Amino acid sequence: MNTLLLFFVLVSAASAFRLSEQDEFHFKSWMAQYNKMYSLREYYERLQIFTENRRRIDKHNAGNHSFTMGLNQFSDMTFGEFQKSFLWSEPQNCSATKGNYLSSNGPHPDSIDWRKKGNYVTDVKNQGGCGSCWTFSTTGCLESVTAIATGKLIPLSEQQLVDCAQDFNNHGCNGGLPSQAFEYIMYSKGLMTEKDYPYTAIEGTCNYKPEMAAAFVKEVMNITAYDEMGMVDAVGTRNPVSFAFEVTADFMHYHSGVYTSSKCHNTTDKVNHAVLAVGYGEDNGTPYWIVKNSWSSSWGIDGYFLIERGRNMCGLAACSSFPVV
Ligand SMILES: *[C@@H]1O[C@H](CO)[C@@H](O)[C@H](O)[C@H]1NC(C)=O
Ligand SMILES: *[C@@H]1O[C@H](CO)[C@@H](O)[C@H](O)[C@H]1NC(C)=O
Ligand SMILES: *[C@@H]1O[C@H](CO)[C@@H](O)[C@H](O)[C@H]1NC(C)=O
Ligand SMILES: *[C@@H]1O[C@H](CO)[C@@H](O)[C@H](O)[C@H]1NC(C)=O
Repeated sequence: MNTLLLFFVLVSAASAFRLSEQDEFHFKSWMAQYNKMYSLREYYERLQIFTENRRRIDKHNAGNHSFTMGLNQFSDMTFGEFQKSFLWSEPQNCSATKGNYLSSNGPHPDSIDWRKKGNYVTDVKNQGGCGSCWTFSTTGCLESVTAIATGKLIPLSEQQLVDCAQDFNNHGCNGGLPSQAFEYIMYSKGLMTEKDYPYTAIEGTCNYKPEMAAAFVKEVMNITAYDEMGMVDAVGTRNPVSFAFEVTADFMHYHSGVYTSSKCHNTTDKVNHAVLAVGYGEDNGTPYWIVKNSWSSSWGIDGYFLIERGRNMCGLAACSSFPVV
């Protein structure tokens, strides 16, 4: 009986992963491109995961979708592994039932891209294997708001937020919220620069020196949950805006185009990743957001992605905020 069982296990395993020389060739060129190295045992495990991902990407790209997928630095990971390293492990308190941001209700441009309006957006950064997306969303937003106000664009410290912002319900590499991080910066009277408090992707002891603070927050603006028009108003008339949404398995392979999903949820309790809206537009009748991510410039469109706008896609309107400086 055991022999028979083993036989079936082997047959099904072999048909699930009928790996060809082609598959190994693809894997080896990807390994070379991303400087990956493995032990022998790990090599075969990663080869299988990579090949499954590659087939999923090819299948998606052969279909009729508004976005394409592609290989990237995450192509040897399962979504479970990805989730553990890069996303929030538990829901954050993201629920501004009534925010304090009042939409201007005035005219706003049909499209805007803060990257093109001036020197207002820093280069895409890389959070590494730490669930600190919320710190990058926070610095990205404060960098832009400060640059729009002062004309000076200075990269700010994520590590200070990872190490020091715990009292405001933030949890270092295990999640946090931009709104809570802006509160921390407001109460601790400043944020240091990236250069003076560099990123390590590991939680350490707080080393904030108030006399070296380089950016400040006077007031935190929370946009009412699910008020996506409020987000359009804020981005169109004021500055980039921090927001959160739910990342599901296909998103890790995003390459280009306008991301949409029928799998993700749209409520405050399900969002698991924070990013920065730096603009919006419309493509062939599909409205979208232009979003800065923190997975390096080799992911997506030079580190950015587009996501459908106007119907709270993946909960993107659940939890948005920005600082006033
Ligand atoms: C592809 O999808 C779009 C939008 O859903 C649709 O309008 C178009 O007809 C589809 N094209 C094909 C070839 O199926
Ligand atoms: C949510 O807020 C409550 C009350 O302030 C706090 O005890 C809890 O730790 C918070 N949850 C998270 C994930 O920060
Ligand atoms: C904005 O949100 C933060 C945390 O999410 C909260 O602490 C703060 O009280 C809110 N601000 C206002 C004015 O509602
Ligand atoms: C979430 O999606 C469902 C199904 O499409 C919809 O009925 C509901 O209004 C959406 N909720 C929010 C808060 O966007």
